[in-house]
Amino acid sequence: MKNIILVGFMGTGKTTIATKLANRLDMRYLSTDDMIEKKEKRTINEIFTDSGEDYFRNVESAVVREASSMANVVIDAGGGVVIREENLTNFRSNGIVICLTAGEEVILERTKKYKHRPLLNVEDPKRKIRDLLAKRAPFYAKADHCIDTGKLTIRQAVDEITKIAEAVQ
Ligand code: S3P
Repeated sequence: MKNIILVGFMGTGKTTIATKLANRLDMRYLSTDDMIEKKEKRTINEIFTDSGEDYFRNVESAVVREASSMANVVIDAGGGVVIREENLTNFRSNGIVICLTAGEEVILERTKKYKHRPLLNVEDPKRKIRDLLAKRAPFYAKADHCIDTGKLTIRQAVDEITKIAEAVQ
């Protein structure tokens, strides 16, 4: 099976869906955020605060290269991974890239109770979500397939991705 890479904005369900998908397809689950935190021995909030976003993006690209060299994995990619073309190229070298989407309100509802995302720890997260979504839309559109998780149950999303993945083998 080709690797399956889930990209998409924060709060679109990547972690939940990737975990279930890996289980269903008997593949290994990998999270770029977890790999970054392990490599850096600090949290993503700490990396952003102490070293800045550029530094974070460099570590993220290194982790993407590492994850892309593995086989039989479902990769749960951080929401900003798509802004660097090289990351998508690496993911595509042996995988299929699927973008999960959801509306602004759904994203706000799903993310507002958590504090581990530095980009959303701002006074007006709704505005930040809207701005970032607009800025990133052309990058997310480069994925091989897009799935709107706002309209599907987790199970339906997993079913749909399974179908897509099986069709490209
Ligand atoms: C980010 C998304 C986060 C994490 C970091 C930056 C982004 O991952 O990589 O906080 O730029 O959209 P999730 O999409 O898994 O929350």
